[in-house]
Amino acid sequence: MTIAQKLSFDVQLSDHARTAAEREQVLTNPGFGQTFTDHMVVIDYTDGRGWHDARLVPYGPLSLDPATSVLHYAQELFEGLKAYRQVNGSIVAFRPYANAARLNRSAARMAMPELPEETFVESLELLVQTDREWVPTTEGHSLYLRPFLIATQVGLGVNYPSRTYSYIVIASPAASYFSGGVKPVSVWLSTEYTRAAPGGTGFAKCGGNYAAAFVAQRQAVENGCDQVVWLDAQAHEYVEEMGGMNLFFVFGDELVTPALTGTLLPGITRESILTLAADLGLEAEERLVSVEEWQAGCESGELTEVFACGTAAVVTPVGSVKGAGRAWTIGDGTPGPVTMRVREELVGIQYGSRPDPHGWVHKIC
Ligand code: PLP
Ligand code: COI
Repeated sequence: MTIAQKLSFDVQLSDHARTAAEREQVLTNPGFGQTFTDHMVVIDYTDGRGWHDARLVPYGPLSLDPATSVLHYAQELFEGLKAYRQVNGSIVAFRPYANAARLNRSAARMAMPELPEETFVESLELLVQTDREWVPTTEGHSLYLRPFLIATQVGLGVNYPSRTYSYIVIASPAASYFSGGVKPVSVWLSTEYTRAAPGGTGFAKCGGNYAAAFVAQRQAVENGCDQVVWLDAQAHEYVEEMGGMNLFFVFGDELVTPALTGTLLPGITRESILTLAADLGLEAEERLVSVEEWQAGCESGELTEVFACGTAAVVTPVGSVKGAGRAWTIGDGTPGPVTMRVREELVGIQYGSRPDPHGWVHKIC
């Protein structure tokens, strides 16, 4: 239940923050999700009391009883979004209220408490303002924000959801998710494993979805591919999404993306691209896309490009596809013009080099 009271944050600054030289060293080559800033935000929740003890504290290990619920039953969810240093020097987040809303949809599915959207956004603002020197200045780099919520009740019973939770936000400077910049990725169609089934947690951003995916991602790599593509649970016939990204299929000047059936994550980048399509003079449609249509479209030349999109991966071209007994190339396997145009527009809005007609950019400082 959401308790709409305004929380004030207690601030405890780190006495062992990295020096400017140490920070610069990290920022030269940040990778993805490897190094974290000097602080984190924590807010606790107790049934009947609501959210309390909001605080900014030095980044550091958590102390959890070994019988804490999240460690056994994975009652957990997370979000992912980025803060960008814009060309005019200000620092912004991209559509943080959309992440707040998705966190609450995940929370409802996971029987966890909702967090007021304002509190979510304030928690990001406080962390980014405090650690603003960690927001990279290098083009294409950003500060990845990882809010997450865990069940903290101690005990092994499964009769009832946890009565206590902690919401935490950490931040990590990020270069490209895929090393090598905008280079097409190869994908593996997983017919042996299923990510999500109707009635399950596919639409929720909960850790368990990712735990269940590692075995398929490993299989993709063993088959010489970069990423796994998930198909529907019943027939393994329709395309759902890729690893940590949604997919778009380009048919000339039409963008097609798999419909939100409840088993794939409603990506904020996906939704933004559906909106941007009209601005770019492209048609856009959400519908089912089968593996057969994908392969036949590439062979006939009607399907000209495929790209993946997400916060971490931005817009990444897909160059080739492999599955049990089949393999094909998309176009000539190089990044296509529509993919690059969509990417340029989105990145331009995020970094402030292009106008933001939809009001997506949220200024932090
Ligand atoms: N699909 C999955 C499974 C993801 O983990 C992500 C990443 O958050 C996405 C899609 C893309 O979502 P978004 O654009 O909101 O980052
Ligand atoms: C994101 O793009 O925010 C993701 O969550 C993808 C992955 C790192 C899990």
